[in-house]
Amino acid sequence: MAHIKNKQILIGISGGIAAYKSVELVRILVRNGARVKVCMTRSACEFITPLTLQAVSGNRVHTELLDPDAEAAMGHIELARWADLILLAPATANFMAKLAHGIADDLLSSICLATAAPVHLAPAMNRLMWANQATQANYKLLQTRGFVIHGPAEGEQACGETGAGRMLEAQQLADLLAASLAEKNTAIAGKTVLITAGPTREAIDPVRFISNRSSGKMGYAVAKAAKAAGAEVILLSGPVALESPAGVKRYLVESAKEMHQKALQLARQADIFIATAAVSDYSPAHVYEQKIKKSTDTLTLQLHYNPDILFDVSHAYPDLFCVGFAAETQDLLKHAEAKLQRKKLDMIVANPVGKNKGFEKDTNQLEILWQGGHLSLPENTKEKLAIDLIQTISRVLYSE
Ligand code: C5P
Repeated sequence: MAHIKNKQILIGISGGIAAYKSVELVRILVRNGARVKVCMTRSACEFITPLTLQAVSGNRVHTELLDPDAEAAMGHIELARWADLILLAPATANFMAKLAHGIADDLLSSICLATAAPVHLAPAMNRLMWANQATQANYKLLQTRGFVIHGPAEGEQACGETGAGRMLEAQQLADLLAASLAEKNTAIAGKTVLITAGPTREAIDPVRFISNRSSGKMGYAVAKAAKAAGAEVILLSGPVALESPAGVKRYLVESAKEMHQKALQLARQADIFIATAAVSDYSPAHVYEQKIKKSTDTLTLQLHYNPDILFDVSHAYPDLFCVGFAAETQDLLKHAEAKLQRKKLDMIVANPVGKNKGFEKDTNQLEILWQGGHLSLPENTKEKLAIDLIQTISRVLYSE
């Protein structure tokens, strides 16, 4: 976490039970050489005391907007200017709503309005509060305005329920901050990266299709990481329930054939191609014009092989740095190596799928192979793995 050293990080804590994790987060950041100041809302002080944060950060904790002493020493404008990066952890539903609508009625929200530094959020709340339409609308608004949002994760919640809304763990957040503070002088900065993501849908009739369990999360995380590393990112996506990451040019397609045609066209302007899409290997030979009726006991569909997008792009553009994914249920490395050769790739990313692994999940585990190199990345969030993958691509490109 070299990129954290000497960085000035302001941790903003709003009132949620996940505030206890922020103590560990501040400790990790300080241990890695960051200068950390903490600002807490009044309700955050009901969950943990400013004294605890003062002890771990080594600095006085800021809580009041209209405190003459505090304003004289380090007022909200000073703090807003001081920070290289602000992380709101936890960010409650209420705090996200204030941020989305420019409300500045306390010290922390005023700082967020007055800063030019990147503002990151680690949302934490009950799953229904997270799923609520108002919260989701605020989340999308914040994303489009360039706020960087980490998580939330799914799992057991402090309220006893299970679902999406848990704050990421302290170490995960520290890793994500370190990656985003990394200098943008990597080999990928300024390059154009084309990424395919999500599943494809192969129509059977007007209402039915063949598809797979891909959520697109890995590809979208790779797009976000490439953008954060300073690349121009083009995301060619199948149907997913994800918002386009901020600053990324997205094209939506449905079928493998559409994705194939668009990829060949977009690859012309790309320097790097990363194929994360789970493309359907086959599509119905005949698409029925009307909905198929239940008239017989059995129905036979004839399927035709779809074009291999990655194969065709890598052969059409020999100078393009091509990265493939190999999702396998068995003999991971053997299959991945074979694909690296057959598809004429510069790098392949193998990940185990099936038995609760890979598709639809927030975490993954990767083996990255390239000519003369191999890197194993143990299970982590797809966001963190995407950052590591982009750094690995940068390193391999740089050494070429
Ligand atoms: O051959 P297999 O489907 O296992 O290869 C996986 C890799 O190839 C992934 O990178 C995937 O995005 C890409 N692929 C493709 N077009 C296909 C099939 C796979 O681009 N029709």
